[in-house]
This record gives sequence, structure tokens and C-alpha cells, in this order.
Amino acid sequence: MNPLTQLIHHAYQPPDGFEAPQPGVFKASTVFFPNVAAMRSREWKNKTGYTYGLHGTPTTYMLEERLCTLEGGAHCVLVPSGLCAIALVALALLKSGDEVLIPDNAYGPSKSLVEAELLGWGITHQYYDPMDPQDLEAQISSRTRLVWLEAAGSVTLEFPDLVRQLQICRQRKVLTALDNTWGAGLAFKPFDLQPGVEPALGVDVSIHALTKYPSGGGDVLMGSVMTRDPALHHRILLTHMRLGLGVGMNDVEAVLRSLPSVALRYRAHDVATRHLVHWACQQSEFVQVLHPALEESPGHYQWKALCGIEPGNAAGLFSVILDPRFNRDQTDAFCDALRLFRLGYSWGGPISLVVPYALESMRMGWPPHLLRGTLVRFSVGLEAVEDLQADLQQALTQLK
Ligand SMILES: Cc1ncc(COP(=O)(O)O)c(C=O)c1O
Repeated sequence: MNPLTQLIHHAYQPPDGFEAPQPGVFKASTVFFPNVAAMRSREWKNKTGYTYGLHGTPTTYMLEERLCTLEGGAHCVLVPSGLCAIALVALALLKSGDEVLIPDNAYGPSKSLVEAELLGWGITHQYYDPMDPQDLEAQISSRTRLVWLEAAGSVTLEFPDLVRQLQICRQRKVLTALDNTWGAGLAFKPFDLQPGVEPALGVDVSIHALTKYPSGGGDVLMGSVMTRDPALHHRILLTHMRLGLGVGMNDVEAVLRSLPSVALRYRAHDVATRHLVHWACQQSEFVQVLHPALEESPGHYQWKALCGIEPGNAAGLFSVILDPRFNRDQTDAFCDALRLFRLGYSWGGPISLVVPYALESMRMGWPPHLLRGTLVRFSVGLEAVEDLQADLQQALTQLK
């Protein structure tokens, strides 16, 4: 054979038995079959084989299984972003004429999805008050097929009564999907909120923006959709296949590499955040500090009951509401003056981030549990906490 052909159809096979800390990375669109019979019969839906790169490789299966271990799920699919995970759940579980309920503090683009896309396909939505289970109950109608949950809200950090919310949805036989990016599978176990209680009280679907804590580097976009119920997983998997959703193996590798340290990093973010939160509470420029471990923060008692108070259960986000005497320009100057906290979206990476939010344009009305003023959200990275505090302190002088 011509060496060019030999190079492509090379006979060498490395010996079996290679083992190393990190799993190998398998990249493929095409997957080979030994014969036509295998091509016709091979099954990928239950992870017993490989048919095409989009339907799974050893690398994607590996990450999916490890994520299930972390969160207590049974089945998982990977998608290109956290937002795509939210969209996949909608496309798999909703059809024209159905209604979906969303907490009013939900991740903003989830609201855009229902308002700008789902509505056009005849799927309606209602927003409910995340802090009022009765409101959730009142909004469930005969058309409600899915209720989204989020704990805590990623901007305003209210922690809902998840247990009560799930009990209501279960009584009303409505599916639940949790955006569990904040909890990361570490703060609480979404498929089993009350360990030891049978039958288990848990969500039907849990999605993650793996972009945040599981990736941990601020350099990967990925999402996951997890379930315990095989029938539900099957529906999601088929929609996933029909939409052609795939992820890059280098990105999967990056998450696999970061995953063993996720609990340590999450704890470090949490410890530093609590330190800064206590400092922020003493600053007169802030009229309210939002973080679930603060007794006066909305939903603190629900958080404490579900997650416990130990560090390692409260992620790395906190928000402050600035005294309304500061105008928008002053608030912007405060954010601009920060040197270690960089202006940028997302969270869960090594670098601290800050974003000012116009809450009035994000919510149905000003939430009664929040004081008036501009809200600024901080994502606390892995820098030394005393440097972060000094950074906040020096930026505060811009507000004087
Ligand atoms: C709570 C929450 N869910 C989902 C997402 C979406 O993740 P991604 O950026 O990977 O689309 C984000 C992103 O900021 C988020 O904050």
C-alpha cells in the first residue's frame, strides 16, 4: 500500500492496560462498526455501545456518569451550555397548548426563552413568586406541565421553600425541573431533599450550567440535564438526538479534569464569600446584603433547613443593594473602580466578577423582601479574601 494510505489505515494498536489519573479523550464524529450487522443492531441509548459522535463517546459517557454520582441522578446528557440545558428540557417536555411556570427570580435568559421562543410555538408561561408557595400553587392550572425551580436565585439570592414547592407540584402531578447551578450538586441533593424519607422527595429534572463550578476555569461552556426516571430520560435523550446537540471533547476533558476538585473549590468560594458578606453588612453604603447564610437574607431559614449552616453549602455569590442616595453613575463608578473584581458575566471561576443589575426591568414588580436601590452582584473567585476585601473597600471611596 502507498504510505499515505498506510498512514490512515495504520495497523499499530497500542497495548491495553494503560491507566493514568485522567481518563483518555476520545474524539469522533464517525464511529466504526466491524460489520453491517453490528451497524444495524448497535444501541447507544443505554450506553452499551457507540454509533456516532453526537450520541456519545467514552469521554461523554464518563462525564455524564460522574455528574450522576455527584448529584445523585441516574441519567445525564451533556449540552453546549447551561442555557441550552434549559431549552432542551422545554423542547423535550412541552408542546403547543401546555403551560410552564417560572420563578420570578429565574436566570434572565430562561425568561427570554419562554417569552420570545416558546410563546411563538403556543406554549404559554406564568411567573410565580419564589418565596410564596401558595402563589405557586395558585398558578398551577390544568395546562401546567412543568414547573421550573431555582435555589437560590442567582442574582437576588433568595432561597425558596423547595420542599414545600415540590410537595405542591407532586400533589398536582406536575413535572419539576431545577436549575441547580448554584447548588452544584454539593449544597443539597435535589433528587432526595429529605434523605431517609421514603418515597424520596426530589425534582424530576436537574440542569446545570457546568460552565460555572464544575468547569471552574471560566473557559468552558457546557450544560447537563439529569434525571432519575428512565422514561423521562428517554424523552430528553431523543429530543437531544433530534436537535443534534453535541459538545466538544476538549471541553468535556476540561470538566473531567476540574471535577475532582469541585467540592474543595466550592467550599473555598463559600468561605471567602461569607467573610465578605459579613464585612459588607457593616458598610453603611449598602442597605441590604443578600446571601442565604445571613439570617436577615430572604429564605435564610429554608436554606439552613435544607443545606445546613456549615461552609461548603452556599456557593460564591452575594449581592448588595446600594443606598438609593447613590445614583446610577456613582454605582457604575464603584464597579469600574474595582480592580480584582472584573466586570463580566458568569460565575464559579477563579477570578472574582461583578455586575450591576437593573432589577426593575428583570422582575414583575419590585419584590417586597428587597429594599430599593441598585443591586450589584459579586461572584467571589479564589483570590485571597483580604485582597478582595481591600479591593471593595477602595472602590467604596468612589461612592462618597
Ligand atoms: C443560574 C444560571 N443558570 C444557567 C445559566 C446558563 O449557563 P451558560 O452560561 O452555560 O449558558 C447561568 C449563566 O449565568 C446561570 O447563572
